[in-house]
Amino acid sequence: MNNLVKRGASKQFEEGAEALPLDHVAIIMDGNRRWARERLLPRAAGHQAGVKSLKRLVRYVGERSLKYLTVYAFSSENWQRKEEEVSYLLKLFSDVLDDEFAELAENKVRLRFIGDLERMPAKLKNSMLESMENSRENTGLNLQVAINYGSRLELTQAARAIAMDVKRGLVDPESIDENMLSRYLYTADLPDPELLIRTGGEMRLSNYLLWQSAYTEFYVTSTLWPDFKPEDFDLAVSEFSHRNRRYGGD
Ligand code: FPP
Repeated sequence: MNNLVKRGASKQFEEGAEALPLDHVAIIMDGNRRWARERLLPRAAGHQAGVKSLKRLVRYVGERSLKYLTVYAFSSENWQRKEEEVSYLLKLFSDVLDDEFAELAENKVRLRFIGDLERMPAKLKNSMLESMENSRENTGLNLQVAINYGSRLELTQAARAIAMDVKRGLVDPESIDENMLSRYLYTADLPDPELLIRTGGEMRLSNYLLWQSAYTEFYVTSTLWPDFKPEDFDLAVSEFSHRNRRYGGD
């Protein structure tokens, strides 16, 4: 099966209202800078176009009643980018949160940020915590934004937290199993994603949801994130629905 799908997907779900065959889609939104470079625009324009693309998709998956969408916005490795780009991205996240939260809340979106929020600038961190708290009761789409996220860090922090609980006498080491470890992750209350979409054509996980994607189907498209449209999402879901998921069995 060639899972690198060429750019320019055709529309698959013309009827649109068909029930989705899955609850949780994770996305690695890659290719903003290449999109800008192709147009001789500054990087910032690529990230702005990335925000538009995310807004379009959030609206669409909300209409399709998807339960969980988890997007990779900023990895723990992204701090290595030029300071100017990092500052731009952090300011963009802050502005988007300020500008878009009301519409998200109106659409009953529950927002969660997953990652190590401690390193975030105080104002952004407070807005993130506040928006999570203020959307806690919302019953629509669960939107997770991974920010300063890295799976190895997440697993390391979980291991440390379990060790601390063992030390305090709260956890019996014999009782540590997969379910318990899952409960110490940022994604504790969430089901694992059934489908992980990566735009921009790279065939790697980039330290994203390593534990949670043990049995997740991967779909890589060379479409760059700003160009990723509802029909591209539908195409990924359509391909997912034809996969034979065996979970290591026959
Ligand atoms: C990937 O493109 C994207 C990012 C590093 C993160 C930024 C994402 C957005 C701005 C989308 C909106 C997100 C939120 C939460 C508002 P890249 O910079 O790696 O591009 P390249 O692969 O072409 O270098």
